Amino acid sequence: MPSVTEIREMAGEQSITMLTAYDAVTASIVDAAGTDVILVGDSVGNADMGYESTLPVTVDEIASRTGAVVRGTEDALVVADMPFLSFGVDQSESIEHCGRMLKEEGADAVKIESSKRTVELTERLTELGIPVMAHLGLTPQKVNELGGYTRQGTTPEAARRIIDLANRHEEAGAFSLVLEHVPANLAEKVTDALDIPTIGIGAGPGCDGQVLVINDVVGLSDWEPPFSEQFGDVRSEMAGAVEKYNDAVESGDFPAEEHSHYEDDLDELY
Ligand code: KIV
Ligand code: NA
Repeated sequence: MPSVTEIREMAGEQSITMLTAYDAVTASIVDAAGTDVILVGDSVGNADMGYESTLPVTVDEIASRTGAVVRGTEDALVVADMPFLSFGVDQSESIEHCGRMLKEEGADAVKIESSKRTVELTERLTELGIPVMAHLGLTPQKVNELGGYTRQGTTPEAARRIIDLANRHEEAGAFSLVLEHVPANLAEKVTDALDIPTIGIGAGPGCDGQVLVINDVVGLSDWEPPFSEQFGDVRSEMAGAVEKYNDAVESGDFPAEEHSHYEDDLDELY
């Protein structure tokens, strides 16, 4: 069972596998397959709750999903993704929200979309015993400010800002860093600059690990994100099962004799 220390030590040694999960059943499948880290992503908003973005996701929702994922997981490290405005507004409130994921729900760590404002918070949380996974590059909670889900760090100036913030979050105590939607050569430079592992999504092969949204990986999503890959076809598998069920009910084939129970005593009811 990887601890944050073990994840940290995987940097440069062994590729870290990370996937999202939002419920106990999916978590148990992801866990049994030997995945190192399970992220209870705020991507639950788009992937599972029908929202257009991650912004509406609440602390209560992430807490509830985190508890479910923890109950479905035996080995993987479980990281709770802190939702929009649950951190960074007020320090004691931020600590309370993050602490709740460990104290009440059993998570091992939290992930925070990083900026220069989260350096101090990362240090404070780490000191208190709440391990922090940082997140730089495209930070989807800033979609309104960024004007879309666009690639980040594409100019030397923007790239330098990301390298600088990565270093500052490592110094503040972050145990790993997600790099989202940045040029592969920038991700390589950040990975070289840090001792802690980088975990990429849309960031090329040079990171210490990779993360994707589970719905995209198993083929449950009805769209294909540009940097993901569908490794299965769960959506059509489910659709096929549902169609067969509907047909069987409509034709009277289900339930059959073997699904039914008759009680002898009831024969004389009328
Ligand atoms: O919410 C999420 O799924 C994420 C990963 C894509 C890193 O933040
Ligand atoms: Na997220």
